This record gives sequence, structure tokens and C-alpha cells, in this order.
Amino acid sequence: MANQAPVAWVTGGTGGIGTAICRSLADAGYLVVAGYHNPDKAKTWLETQQADGYNNIVLSGVDLSDHNACLEGAREIHEKHGPISVLVNCAGITRDGTMKKMSYEQWYQVIDTNLNSVFNTCRSVIEGMLENGYGRIINISSINGRKGQFGQVNYAAAKAGMHGLTMSLAQETATKGITVNTVSPGYIATDMIMKIPEQVREAIRETIPVKRYGTPEEIGRLVTFLADKESGFITGANIDINGGQFMG
Ligand code: CAA
Repeated sequence: MANQAPVAWVTGGTGGIGTAICRSLADAGYLVVAGYHNPDKAKTWLETQQADGYNNIVLSGVDLSDHNACLEGAREIHEKHGPISVLVNCAGITRDGTMKKMSYEQWYQVIDTNLNSVFNTCRSVIEGMLENGYGRIINISSINGRKGQFGQVNYAAAKAGMHGLTMSLAQETATKGITVNTVSPGYIATDMIMKIPEQVREAIRETIPVKRYGTPEEIGRLVTFLADKESGFITGANIDINGGQFMG
């Protein structure tokens, strides 16, 4: 039988935060299409989800930095599973370093993966959402796009740029049943955080008023709330979820 559930496409779905978002949306009744980068990791990841009872999660391995591949990937998801109701842009990488040491590759890789990808996926789903008169787009940014971060000119620029796109697209789609929002997580307990040198990481944790890292599940819960049909009055917002570390 053809899929009847609303479809949610989560880029970076196999990552630390992405996994929790996929599971939360799946719990809420979506057919979740999880984007991945590494096929071997994705295969094992899907087996784990299925072993945990998540049979409404599937994979899609689109190269998000390739505009035409995104258009094709979105078309394929639509054909196989139905119209895409929810897009969550969660794919992201870090290539930290101070400006004086940062290579052009470190700059470009982060802009390409974290920001150009968001244009590519939004452009790929927007016409379908406009036709349906319904859509939810949620861009996962970062506290560091809000306040900047020593060692992250590339990442902070991409994450701040993401919210510029959110606000503009929210205005373009506000009368069309589509909401577009940014979620800005603080430091969440994932592999990405574990890459920060331990001493630096511990110093950062001390600056978080709640004195702990966030959990991926806390982000999943917020994303699922924004994805809900009943959340239609929230658009163009940048929602902080950071344990009080930045109050903008
Ligand atoms: N503030 C001020 N000064 C700092 C500093 C800081 N936060 N961190 C380092 N410095 C100083 C050092 O004390 C040193 O000073 P001196 O030159 O006077 O001795 C100098 O900066 C070191 O500069 P270098 O260019 O040599 O830097 P480095 O090669 O040692 O490494 C770094 C710098 C790569 C940025 C490293 O500090 C680091 O990894 N920092 C963490 C960056 C970070 O928070 N990344 C977040 C990743 S998680 C994420 O991004 C998810 C999310 O959305 C939240």
C-alpha cells in the first residue's frame, strides 16, 4: 500500500542531533526520510533504528552540495513516498581554526555543507509545498551563529546566514500555509562536541547556566513541535535552545 503518512525529509538524519529528530518525527507519525553522507554508517544506523522498532524511517543519500542532485533527490522522495510536508536542514560539519590559520578549503567546505545545502534543499521542496499550500521548514543553526565563536568564522557565518534565508523565505511563504523557522541549539552532547579539545570543552560547559550539555532528544522535541500543523503562527523565528548560554 502506498504511504499515507506525511513525509519529513531530515538532512543529516544519521548524525547525533539528526537521529533524535528522525525518531521524534517518526514517533509523531511521519514517514521520515533520513539524509546521510556515509553509506556504510547509514546502513548500520538504519538497522539500529529498525531494531528499536522504527519501521517508518528510510534513507536518502543525496549530496547536498550538488544543486541538481538535490532537485533529483527531492523528486525521487516525492515519487516514492508522496509530497514532502516537512524539511529539516540538519546536515552540518565543523572545520574549526582561527582566521590566521584557516585554509580556503576549511572555509569553503563549511559554507558549502552548512549553507549552500540549505538553499539547495529549500529550492528543491518549495514548489511542491506551494502547490500543496502546506509546508514546514526547520533550519538547524547554532548558538554560534547568534554570538560568534572563537575559532569558527566559517561555521558562525554559515549558521548566521541560514537564519537570513529563514526570515526571507518565511516572508515569501507566509500566506501559503508554509512556515520557516530556525532552531539554534547550544552545546549538545554529540560527537561534534567531543571533537573540541577537552580543556576547551570543559571551559565552555562552565559557561552554560544549567551546567550541562543539551541532549539530542531536547532538540528533537522542539523540531517536532514546530513541524506540527498547529504551530502555524510561528514563522521566521530563531528559537534558542542552549541552557541559557546565550540570551539574545
Ligand atoms: N577565547 C580567547 N582566546 C582563546 C580562546 C577563546 N575561546 N581559545 C583559544 N584562545 C587563545 C589561546 O589561549 C592562544 O592564545 P596565545 O596565542 O596568546 O597563546 C591562542 O588563542 C591560540 O590561537 P591558535 O590560532 O594557535 O589556536 P589553536 O590552534 O590553539 O586552536 C581552536 C584554536 C581550534 C579554535 C580551539 O581553541 C578550539 O577548538 N576551540 C573550540 C571552538 C568551538 O567552540 N567549536 C565549537 C564546535 S561544536 C559546534 O560548533 C556545535 C555547535 O553548533 C555549538
